[in-house]
Amino acid sequence: MNKNFKRTTVTAALPYANGPVHLGHMAGVYVPADIYVRYLRLKKRDVLFVGGSDEHGVPITIRAKKEGITPQDVVDRYHKLIKDSFKEFGISFDIYSRTTSETHKEVASDFFKKLYEKGEFVEKTSEQYYDEEAKTFLADRYITGECPHCHAEGAYGDQCESCGTSLNPTDLINPKSVISGGKPSMKETKHWYLPLDKHEEWLSKWILEDHKEWRPNVYGQCKSWLDMGLQPRAVSRDLSWGIPVPLADAEGKVLYVWFDAPIGYISNTKELLPDSWETWWKDPETRLVHFIGKDNIVFHCIVFPAMLKAEGSYILPDNVPSNEFMNLEGDKISTSRNWAVWLHEYLKDFPGKQDVLRYVLTANAPETKDNDFTWKDFQAHNNSELVGIYGNFVNRALVLTHKYFEGKVPAIANLTDYDKETLAEFSSIKEKIEGYLEDFKFRYAQREAMNLARIGNKYLADTEPWKVAKTDMSRVATIMNISLQLVANLAIAFEPFLPFSSKKLRALIQVDSFEWDELGSTSLLKEGHQLSKPELLFDKIEDEEIEIQIERLRKIKEENDKMNHKANPIKPNIEFDDFLKLDMRVGTVLECVKVPKTDKLLQFKIEDGLNQRTIVSGIAEFYKPEDLVGKQVCFIANLAPRKLRGVLSEGMILSTEDSDGNLVLLQPKKEVTPGNEIK
Ligand code: 2FM
Ligand code: ZN
Repeated sequence: MNKNFKRTTVTAALPYANGPVHLGHMAGVYVPADIYVRYLRLKKRDVLFVGGSDEHGVPITIRAKKEGITPQDVVDRYHKLIKDSFKEFGISFDIYSRTTSETHKEVASDFFKKLYEKGEFVEKTSEQYYDEEAKTFLADRYITGECPHCHAEGAYGDQCESCGTSLNPTDLINPKSVISGGKPSMKETKHWYLPLDKHEEWLSKWILEDHKEWRPNVYGQCKSWLDMGLQPRAVSRDLSWGIPVPLADAEGKVLYVWFDAPIGYISNTKELLPDSWETWWKDPETRLVHFIGKDNIVFHCIVFPAMLKAEGSYILPDNVPSNEFMNLEGDKISTSRNWAVWLHEYLKDFPGKQDVLRYVLTANAPETKDNDFTWKDFQAHNNSELVGIYGNFVNRALVLTHKYFEGKVPAIANLTDYDKETLAEFSSIKEKIEGYLEDFKFRYAQREAMNLARIGNKYLADTEPWKVAKTDMSRVATIMNISLQLVANLAIAFEPFLPFSSKKLRALIQVDSFEWDELGSTSLLKEGHQLSKPELLFDKIEDEEIEIQIERLRKIKEENDKMNHKANPIKPNIEFDDFLKLDMRVGTVLECVKVPKTDKLLQFKIEDGLNQRTIVSGIAEFYKPEDLVGKQVCFIANLAPRKLRGVLSEGMILSTEDSDGNLVLLQPKKEVTPGNEIK
């Protein structure tokens, strides 16, 4: 930070209220934002943490239509679910509101009006797709058709989900309206555009020269947008769901969701602090920090700042620490493919383990590149670090103090050189953690906190108080005092990262609260201070619990594979005469045995209406021979005989595959005369 700010406004991206939140959201935005805010609060800095749900946008209307409910029903449902999940994970918003609130409608409309009146928009008329039957313009997602690249059906007007290409609605081959199914026509419509091209010059200087400290991924993305040259962006849409454009000639038009959503940060502040909200948004001594995911960079670094600047009375963001994406078991998290770990489900399976997820998501935070969450890694971080290092040290320190000193902090007698070194080492951790936190390097910061516990474990292992106790209790007192000071420091160091565990630890050492600036102190717990009975801070996570999660994901993958399964391409056409050459019949199984020394082959004797014939078929893994005797099967009767494992097979039994890849015999539904032809 190169300026002395008086206070910090921290925002976390407003999630769309059209689905629950998953661990990708948490890793990307909410856990880091919460760590930062908790740190600032502990440091007694003035901070406001603003969140809320983003409740406009076309995906919400599509979901409502699919479920036969209103968009308001959709957002009511998910706003509550999301808000509850955040609360349960300790994401400590000062306010979590929503963009369908009355305050937001008013603030967003006023913002638009102010820009309009200042002449900050350009009006443009263009041709867009229109559904004559439904009498409505069609948003990009409301038009589907054939992808011009991969020719998949069902590509959307903005993107083909088969090949991932970004599209314009007019690129689609045979476009269709999602609403009526009819062919859309082109119709003229007027919209208001924010002329980003006019803002390009100051934006370039402001970002590329004045904010070189932004994360390389953020800076790089901004640079490439600026290098390409900025274009005017429409801030209105022809839709019925959204905030109406507050102008007389704007019937049927609403604010574009990306225009109103970031204003939501302001509205929510105003809702919380109707009298003082402007201090948090307009005072140059306020520092504004946006936590977002990488798909939001352009909106927060270019579009929203241009809106704020155009309005004229607002401050601009000082930093936009955006993360890359967190993948799940090697695949991109996807709501539509259900490839996610939903927070509310996690809590059902791992009750009380909010901090474990917070810890693992920070340990693997995708700060500089995409990262992967795996359940095995989750278990390993829990068992070897939270349980094995942090929990273990705290437990040993508390248990030994109870054993030797009735749970009271003993006095220091004499410090050895090694004691002094240890004290100096842990005192210096504060500066390191702070440095990382101020730089938004949360994984490094958390690693330093864990190093404190490592120092503790090493100290106990080196000093061996359980051995010294046989000869020198005053030495044990010193060792335990130092260890307990370390324990208290851990409660502070982990407080921003693992708030639930720090609270539990504070209860164990009977301290109501700490301040951040006490971190590094070697006299946090006074001589004679009583500790509570030891309890474990963390529990081991067993293999079975992890297997359940892995199995759940395996099933989802299987379902997805099935849904995506495409039949093999059809072979080239054959002439009817060629077809007539094929002789397919029904026969009755007279005998059936396994072909010796094979796993897959069954040998059939079939009554074919004229004779009895032998056919060998590779279905032994799927049928028991005795179950087939007396049953009817279909077979090709005129395939040239060939030897299979020494047995001459006179034909081929017909089968297909079920969705698990098992072979299934084709059989007539009703018994027929053996030898009847299949036509
Ligand atoms: O990407 C998203 O989930 C958006 N709903 C984020 C909006 S952030 C802000 F602008 F509100
Ligand atoms: Zn495609």
